[in-house]
Amino acid sequence: MKASINSKLMRKSWILVLWMSLLHVACFKKNLPESPQTDFNAPLRPYQLQIPDYFSRNFRIPDDNPLTEQGVELGRMLFYDTRLSSDNSVSCASCHQQSAAFSDNNRFSKGVEGRTGTRNSMSLANLLWVNRFFWDGRATSLESQALFPLGHPDEMNLPPEQAAAKLQTLPEYPPRFKQVFGSEQITPLNIAKALAQFQRTLISANSRYDRYLRGEYRPTALELQGIQLFFTHPIPEIGLRGGNCGDCHVGPLVQGDPTAFRGFHNNGLDPDATLAPGLQNVTGNPNDRGKFRAVSLRNIALTAPYMHDGRFQTLEQVLEHYDQHIQMSRTLDPLIIEASNEIRNDNNAPVKLYLTPQEKRAILAFLHMLTDSTFIQDKRFSNPFINR
Ligand code: HEC
Ligand code: HEC
Repeated sequence: MKASINSKLMRKSWILVLWMSLLHVACFKKNLPESPQTDFNAPLRPYQLQIPDYFSRNFRIPDDNPLTEQGVELGRMLFYDTRLSSDNSVSCASCHQQSAAFSDNNRFSKGVEGRTGTRNSMSLANLLWVNRFFWDGRATSLESQALFPLGHPDEMNLPPEQAAAKLQTLPEYPPRFKQVFGSEQITPLNIAKALAQFQRTLISANSRYDRYLRGEYRPTALELQGIQLFFTHPIPEIGLRGGNCGDCHVGPLVQGDPTAFRGFHNNGLDPDATLAPGLQNVTGNPNDRGKFRAVSLRNIALTAPYMHDGRFQTLEQVLEHYDQHIQMSRTLDPLIIEASNEIRNDNNAPVKLYLTPQEKRAILAFLHMLTDSTFIQDKRFSNPFINR
């Protein structure tokens, strides 16, 4: 009797153990981070971009590089893979960190062996609406852009051909390239294409400003005043006050006009841009001296320091620059020369905006509205190698 009870219990507990371990497996499976995709024969699935209706529809994805879910995922792996550098220490994400809206907070980013360049890293949000890449616009597509940092001795220091050969030896890559691009043979072009696919998905559209545009958020009085000042060109003759910023950082994307070089301006940083000729280096035109791209100001509170050379530490310093320290030069933008909140009778008088301290606080409040905390936490954009 005792024995039979015991064996019954034993049987019961065995079943319980079995059942619990099954349950455990099920739970564990459920808790695994987004599982690595392993079915390399599955058909390619188109990637659906989510774009708010107030963003321009004027962008182009190259016909020979359509976005697919598998292509974007491959690009994401490459973006975060430090093995794409000569000493396995640097990935794209080293200088383009999600927490900093895919920029970094160094004045000059560190490449392999701690080497530094002369330019401040750029945010990679909303690149779908950019046609000329880098501060001076020297790259004409995301596909061609990607090969610059790979081969650059101060960045990843792995010339594209070598990068392709290296990836070829890593078991996770050839089947993925085969699935996405139809060939197991990894090429620099296909590396660039995958990286471009991932970067095109980096859309930031859920800041307080977006929620305001969608009627989901009621701005404070200071924020409203900031929006107003940011997008107004001042006309002191009729008492219209403005910060003039929206003349160059245009519309909901808050960035330069992407048409050709229209979004490039000289914003008065230097009296003579010998050290940083900017767009002039690309076009060869002396009238383009000292012009740089009016980059998007989305997430700007996260991407300090500021300007192509990271010369300003804070947004307050940036505002002081536009307000009081514009440097006159032959190519200084007319939109800046014209803009002041005080009537300028003397053409030789320095160019100043003359905002009040309260107005500056309002513009700063607007700049802070552009921070998108959803974007910097979005799992789809995070490091796929963590937790796997
Ligand atoms: C060592 C730091 C560093 C690394 C590594 C790096 N970048 Fe950059 N990135 C920069 C800097 C600095 C700039 C601005 C350079 C300039 O304008 O001269 C930049 C600019 C860019 C831009 C232009 C953005 C725009 O708005 O025009 C893109 C796109 C970009 N990087 C993507 C990548 C990709 C993809 C990788 C990996 C293959 C990568 N970066 C690796 C520092 C880095
Ligand atoms: C004439 C065009 C123009 C006007 C007007 C203008 N900007 Fe800019 N802005 C630019 C350009 C061009 C750059 C990049 C310059 C560089 O790095 O050399 C820039 C850069 C910036 C940056 C740094 C971006 C970064 O990622 O480092 C901030 C912040 C900024 N502007 C804010 C403002 C604010 C605020 C105003 C209004 C008070 C304003 N801008 C008015 C053209 C303009």
